[in-house]
Amino acid sequence: MNSETPDLPEEESGLEQIQEKEAPKPTETQEKLSEDEKKQIEMEEDFIGKPLIVHTEWQDVHFSFPAPKIRFGKGVSRDLPHAIFELLDPMLPYIHKADIAQPKAMIVIGESSIKTSGALDGILEACKNNAIETMVYSIGKGEANVDMVDEGVQLALDEKPHYIVGIGGGSVLDVAKAIAGIARNGGLAEEYHEGKPFEVPGLPFIAIPTTAGTGSEITNNAVLIDKTQNFKKSIRGNQIIAKYILLDPELTLSCPPDVTAHSGVDALVQAIEAYTSRKSHPIADIYAMQAIMLIAPNLRYVVEHGQDYAARSEMMLGSFFAGVAFSNVGLGLVHGLAHPIGYKYDIPHGKICGALLPWVIEYNTEKSAQKYVKIARVIGQLDLFTKFEPECNDSENGRRLAGMIKEVFSQVQIPLRLQDLGILKEDFDWIAENTKGGSVNTNPRIPTKEDLLDLLEKAW
Ligand SMILES: [Fe+2]
Repeated sequence: MNSETPDLPEEESGLEQIQEKEAPKPTETQEKLSEDEKKQIEMEEDFIGKPLIVHTEWQDVHFSFPAPKIRFGKGVSRDLPHAIFELLDPMLPYIHKADIAQPKAMIVIGESSIKTSGALDGILEACKNNAIETMVYSIGKGEANVDMVDEGVQLALDEKPHYIVGIGGGSVLDVAKAIAGIARNGGLAEEYHEGKPFEVPGLPFIAIPTTAGTGSEITNNAVLIDKTQNFKKSIRGNQIIAKYILLDPELTLSCPPDVTAHSGVDALVQAIEAYTSRKSHPIADIYAMQAIMLIAPNLRYVVEHGQDYAARSEMMLGSFFAGVAFSNVGLGLVHGLAHPIGYKYDIPHGKICGALLPWVIEYNTEKSAQKYVKIARVIGQLDLFTKFEPECNDSENGRRLAGMIKEVFSQVQIPLRLQDLGILKEDFDWIAENTKGGSVNTNPRIPTKEDLLDLLEKAW
């Protein structure tokens, strides 16, 4: 995702290029059918006949698709030594000129359950058994901030690890990613907020997520709060992308229900926003849609059955696929609004995103109707929600999708009104003023300040 995303002209969204199909004339046989039979046929035709790929302008889309090494499966986090040795040779030129006879890894963690579950001990033990030295840096509780990064960078400069390993949720991975970049490039986190670029590759960063939600393991940015400067924003660069990702669903088994719900909702929102991004492209669409298909049917179940490994696996894959999609094509207005709200209020990010998504879908529906219909249809195929209604026009089906989303989010106790999150109307002006950046620019519809105030009012 690039915060410098240009404001694309309307015609580049491709949505205007779609030609409405002329309705087929009824055959003699169809005229003899009962109303119910006709309706059934219409429903099936509507389902079958609509183009599944609605973006008709792929030939004008340019994209590249970088991907780090990935391992997925039960217990792969304990294969960290493998990842370290695999990265050793190609990464040598970028590692400190220290004695590499014994690799050293700085393990960044948070207040996560991997300590109490024993998972961290298992990973440290595996490193010890493979003669890899480790040091643990705990960032404590709370959202990622510049102080956590600066403290970690100083530790890395003192201890000279060859690798930075982040094991945790989005905040931990973001801090670890930033430490890896800044330890090699120098300076303070706030300088990167101000635009200092990463000029050389960071220390090799290995990401091991313990929640299924943020997608931080795959992104090229770290979202950091700077309380002294009064903002929360990303530092970014391809030099800080993880070199290796270990996706171990076992680590998410101990994730509590509320965190499972918030992070799962975030992942679903990210998948939907990537799918409808103005920068969407065919490969990202595949990942985004697969993410929706994995997350939507599992969300409620996994919150209620946290020990179900199969459901945890699908959520982890879905979250990762959403991350792959949005890290390539960006997000949308939900995330544009969630940033200032998240800075002003201490509310879990996924909760904010969940409360906003139905209202943003309604706002976008005129521009993204066909993609929304496709999402609704796919979700409907899974027999989770209300049936797709072919007699409604596309915009109405966008609104219908918003209704489906509200239903599924309410099942995992996500408030659907901003007032239920404790957000005050008096902050709307400030929120609207500070809703800007990459996520807004990739939203299907570019909002004016009045649009934002109107949307916030409706969502309240
Ligand atoms: Fe998010």
